[in-house]
Amino acid sequence: MPLEDELGDILQKARDGKAWSRNDLVKATNFSNEDLQKIESYQWTPEDSDVLKLARALDLDGPALVDIAQERWEPTPPSNDPDFDLVCLNVFMGEYPVNCYLVRCKATGETAVVDTGANPKTIIAKAREMGVHPKMVLLTHAHPDHAGGLGQLSQAFECPTCIDHKEPKPGGSSNFKVVKDGDEIPLGNLRIKCIETPGHTVGGVSYLINQTLLSGDVIFAGSMGRANSSWNDLFNSITKKVLLLPDKTGIHPGHGPSTTVGQEKEHNPFFKGQVK
Ligand SMILES: [Fe+2]
Repeated sequence: MPLEDELGDILQKARDGKAWSRNDLVKATNFSNEDLQKIESYQWTPEDSDVLKLARALDLDGPALVDIAQERWEPTPPSNDPDFDLVCLNVFMGEYPVNCYLVRCKATGETAVVDTGANPKTIIAKAREMGVHPKMVLLTHAHPDHAGGLGQLSQAFECPTCIDHKEPKPGGSSNFKVVKDGDEIPLGNLRIKCIETPGHTVGGVSYLINQTLLSGDVIFAGSMGRANSSWNDLFNSITKKVLLLPDKTGIHPGHGPSTTVGQEKEHNPFFKGQVK
């Protein structure tokens, strides 16, 4: 699975963090507006020395940004947890894929769905193939690409949906269980810990099971989510919560490949050197 974000996405998100227009970045570097536009729209990858200049202007880690710009880094997948099965399913909204997950407690077979995608036929088919009947849906946030299929899933499985107390509730279910930071949701022998990670949305929440984090659109391998509600909240969610988990913690995002806390601290241009 390719990284969710390329050089152009990372530059736009970093500009967003400084509240810089493209012209502000022009002033801080010797690039023209046209050149920056080409880079941000994936039409041109400049040479390494120029990528380093952009990184310096935007407070990104230079070598980490060069590695991503030149497609020289991809994360090693985290190890599997012996206590549960984690099945990642690509569910599409048009052509745009989102990662949804089935979590099955190995001891009891109890199963949860994490995010529904927009069109969850794949999830329903996989649950039937596995012979499981999910007993809950866990939403990381309510954007349509993550929660648009809630109506179909609710109809198929008639189960409650967990969502953070600050997140607007999507349509498709009237059976919500509101969660907040620190709550623990039992699933068979598992305890699923809710960690509020706002910034992409106001009520974004990540779910931690042992050393596996299902994090929605908070952090991506080599990048961060789009800060729709607050860039500072999102940055703090990552540096003060997600990346303080043990290095081997698996991060399973809503888009792009899975990674680990340790790898993001080493290779993510936004966060390398930002977390001790
Ligand atoms: Fe989202």
